[in-house]
Amino acid sequence: MIEPCTFIIFGATGNLASNKLIPALYHLEAAGRLPPEMVIVGISRSGWGDDDYREEVAQYLAPKARDGLDEAVLERFTQRLHYFKADLHDPHAYRGLVRYIGENRFPGNHIFYLAIRPAEFGEVVTHLASVGLNDESNGCSRVVIEKPFGYDLESAHILEQQLHRHFREEQLFRIDHYLGKGTVQNVLVFRFANLMMEPLWNRNYIDHVQITHAESVGIEKRAEYYDGAGALRDMLQSHLLQMLTLVAMEPPARLDAESLRDEKVKVLKSIRPIPASAVHAQAFRAQYKNGQIDGEKAAGYLEELGVAPNSTTETYTALKLYIDNWRWRNVPFYIRTGKRMARNSSMICIRFKHPPQQLFRETPLEQIKPNWLLLSIQPDECLRAEIQVKVPGLEMKTQTTTLDASYCGINQRQLDAYEALLLDVIEGDSSLFLRYDEVEWAWKVVDPILKVWAMERDYIHTYPAGSWGPEASNRLFERDDQYWRNSIRAEED
Ligand code: BG6
Repeated sequence: MIEPCTFIIFGATGNLASNKLIPALYHLEAAGRLPPEMVIVGISRSGWGDDDYREEVAQYLAPKARDGLDEAVLERFTQRLHYFKADLHDPHAYRGLVRYIGENRFPGNHIFYLAIRPAEFGEVVTHLASVGLNDESNGCSRVVIEKPFGYDLESAHILEQQLHRHFREEQLFRIDHYLGKGTVQNVLVFRFANLMMEPLWNRNYIDHVQITHAESVGIEKRAEYYDGAGALRDMLQSHLLQMLTLVAMEPPARLDAESLRDEKVKVLKSIRPIPASAVHAQAFRAQYKNGQIDGEKAAGYLEELGVAPNSTTETYTALKLYIDNWRWRNVPFYIRTGKRMARNSSMICIRFKHPPQQLFRETPLEQIKPNWLLLSIQPDECLRAEIQVKVPGLEMKTQTTTLDASYCGINQRQLDAYEALLLDVIEGDSSLFLRYDEVEWAWKVVDPILKVWAMERDYIHTYPAGSWGPEASNRLFERDDQYWRNSIRAEED
């Protein structure tokens, strides 16, 4: 039985709360997963009462509810909602919050979700602590924060000091919604619940690994944030490096949060540092220009509202990383992400080496194609292996065929990534949240690149919206026979 809690949202009227957080909580309500006496308190500066807040929520939920809005669920959900007007910079407001929670006899377990600008995290936690809301003697006190955790290594460090001055590490939940995705978790199950792959999962058999996150959307009214961040900070430092750790990590001693996170940190620590002189060889950036997506014209990045006219912020980035440990030494990991790409597609593609003996040399077979293992994360959840088989007939010819995991294309999961992670916060399970050292080591990987790019602001490669990014990013590949997989279907590549 999960204990009831008071779920307090700072930034209740902002984008994150209305697009992700409230819809996720509503879906948890629909699935009957919220504890019965749990209440949700939205905090922002609007002069609203509970009813205004409930009405507002009902309105923006309508188009977002997965199976259409269910009136009975909505009624139950909105009854949990309360509104507290406060300016988060005002220290008196926090005393008011303590009184408000007490007078209403809201549950003593407190979860503070900071759906606000990262620059405000430090101030809010300091105020919370000043009125004792970090105290756990009468129930838990947890703080949930969203990436970006800092802007670079140094700012991440400063933020961490602010957070740790008042909260213990166990109270901090750094959310990376990729870790809530079913197929991402499936990487662990696939690797460690099956014996078959493990002997092959290393530098003796794997030629290289690719991790791709492509999206067809642009920056969607987020220029203010995105133009100062760019793809490397926005996606790669967090989501993509997290996926890399799951592919590359050793089996943890146990499945508890600390054992898992210890292994992930070991991977990040083993990534070969990129010196400034190797940034061009190992990192690539580009920006979308105008083009076409699904037959519709799409504006270039520089034409997006709020983007500086001479911006060289990258909307596409690709890296080549090496993990210097026994398992992976000299196996390249190619990682890329881009906005306004041809299609939405997130996948992990693992290419195996060629068989050591060219047994079929004297036959019409030219070069046997290598095996691939393909894990599609979205839009389909799918696991597929490409193998070679003989074409029927007298001639010795091969063709690529696929072995598909049976859940291919069938999305049976009932909770999406955000929902699963919010439930974990409510239950106090931090396995799928980031520990500070993970964040720190991930910044150490990208920091040298950020520094070089920050100096070189006069030129950036471009690619047409709706394409797979610039050809020039192929320069990262070690050999001519390596190429980006754009699809888990060989015929679409
Ligand atoms: C967010 C990034 O963290 O992840 C966005 O800030 C990006 O820029 C989003 O669009 C992608 O998430 P998903 O779940 O849609 O792949």
